[in-house]
Amino acid sequence: MEKIALLKEKIQEAMKGGGDKRIADQHKKGKLTARERLQLLLDEGSFEEIGMLVTHRSYDFGMEKEVYPGDGVVTGYGTVNGRLVYVYSQDFTVFGGSLSETHAEKIVKIMELAMQNGAPVVGLNDSGGARIQEGVVSLGGYADIFYRNVQASGVVPQISAILGPCAGGAVYSPAITDFILMAEHTSYMFVTGPNVVKTVTHETVTSEELGGAHTHASKSGVTHFACANEVACISDIKRLLSYMPQNCEDNAPVYDYEAGNESRPALDNIIPENPNQPYDIKDVIQELADADSFMEVHKDFAESIVVGFARMGGRSIGVVANQPAYLAGVLDNNSSRKSARFVRFCDAFNIPLLVVVDVPGFLPGTDQEWNGIIINGAKLLYALSEATVPKITVITRKAYGGAYDVMNSKHIGADLNYAWPTAEIAVMGAKGAAEIIFKKEIAEAADPAAKLKEKEAEYIEKFANPYAAAARGYIDEVILPADTRTKLIKGFKMLENKVVKMPKRKHGNIPL
Ligand code: HXC
Repeated sequence: MEKIALLKEKIQEAMKGGGDKRIADQHKKGKLTARERLQLLLDEGSFEEIGMLVTHRSYDFGMEKEVYPGDGVVTGYGTVNGRLVYVYSQDFTVFGGSLSETHAEKIVKIMELAMQNGAPVVGLNDSGGARIQEGVVSLGGYADIFYRNVQASGVVPQISAILGPCAGGAVYSPAITDFILMAEHTSYMFVTGPNVVKTVTHETVTSEELGGAHTHASKSGVTHFACANEVACISDIKRLLSYMPQNCEDNAPVYDYEAGNESRPALDNIIPENPNQPYDIKDVIQELADADSFMEVHKDFAESIVVGFARMGGRSIGVVANQPAYLAGVLDNNSSRKSARFVRFCDAFNIPLLVVVDVPGFLPGTDQEWNGIIINGAKLLYALSEATVPKITVITRKAYGGAYDVMNSKHIGADLNYAWPTAEIAVMGAKGAAEIIFKKEIAEAADPAAKLKEKEAEYIEKFANPYAAAARGYIDEVILPADTRTKLIKGFKMLENKVVKMPKRKHGNIPL
């Protein structure tokens, strides 16, 4: 029948995007097409497209002669591991994936469906930015998306993959979403590109240096994941989704888990004899979490703190842990920002928090102070204080000064606070403390070095242990490291139905 044939023809045309030559160009760049990406992301046969036949409404610059069904973005819904997700995938083969009025409307439509139906939005971005031929209409389209991103924030998880150029205002939609993933060497993000940079600041820089995956993963922290290629990127999105609930009123999926011997004797020997010797906190996390369940977030950024998702007895948790193997695990501007944002995501989506503490304090110096360590450190303090999800702390070694308070202390609302016998909960390290409080005595001693050692030992005896804090109930229990996993599984189970009522208010004012 003719009408059926016409529809089939239109569908076929839409499937071709910008045509065979442009698809070949896309492949030549090491990039997949919008539809190939969706095929990788979604369960086989689950994709339902919405708006396949939408076209632009532009008549300027001869645009009426160049019309492609779908207008540069494939939108719809499908499932990832059986769970509903809403998706948009920009098609670089149609006007460079640039954003027209109708292209924006398609994205807005699926974002609204996602919010109303309580499921995540995954955006696969590959776009030359605003559709230059459309002018302000395109800018309006971007703002319509930004507005929906903000409305959806904390309601449904939002994930952005950057799989091509992402410049100008286009970077702000991903920036508002919860997680950004970039593919190495084929994607970049910047507010202004190398040419504008050259004109304004006289710096010569490549796109890759300015805004490539490695740059944003390690220097700016804009991206949470730098993936080796698009396939790895899409696989990371799927894994990331597995830790999340569908929306803020839902709980994360529970995975099969066979309870067994949860004792982890390796942990009894993990803390070095010398308190200044580093060890890798990721080894501790691996021992504590379900096998192979730890997915690190922001791996290459602010490495003195480790954040990521894991499972404990089959249930999702968010882990925040100081990293003694990097700058002694100190809290600085970036590590505070990184961890505060992660904590807020977990709290927004009902993911309990495990905080593992080995922290010598905040990093001193003009660089830190002038870049706002006061405000940035306060972000983490605020985020953890505000979080109402179950919160458990394990102090493995140092918990000094203000950092003790900040790192999920009992005082800011932690539910269970454990310490290992190796914990040192004090205002500062023993040597520094002895030098200050016994300054005169040490100076006047016949052998000042010996006196310092003696006073240091006195301070260690009194404070460099978990028992003063345990005596006050700030620590609920001093536990054998080997028993930690057992305690955590039981603890999180006990806290499963935790409800906290916060004071009535419009919203708090986190020190941004
Ligand atoms: C319309 C565009 C386009 C755009 C690319 N194309 N960008 N069409 N509007 N913004 C088209 C090209 O004309 C070309 O069409 C095809 O897409 C592929 O582009 P190429 O340049 O051949 O590809 P490549 O060499 O890979 O370079 C990609 C690119 C470059 C780096 C993205 O195209 C580029 O610089 N584009 C302009 C980027 C830009 O300035 N955007 C506006 C940013 S301002 P044919 O027909 O040949 O296939 C902005 C404001 C948003 O976005 C503000 C929100 C608040």
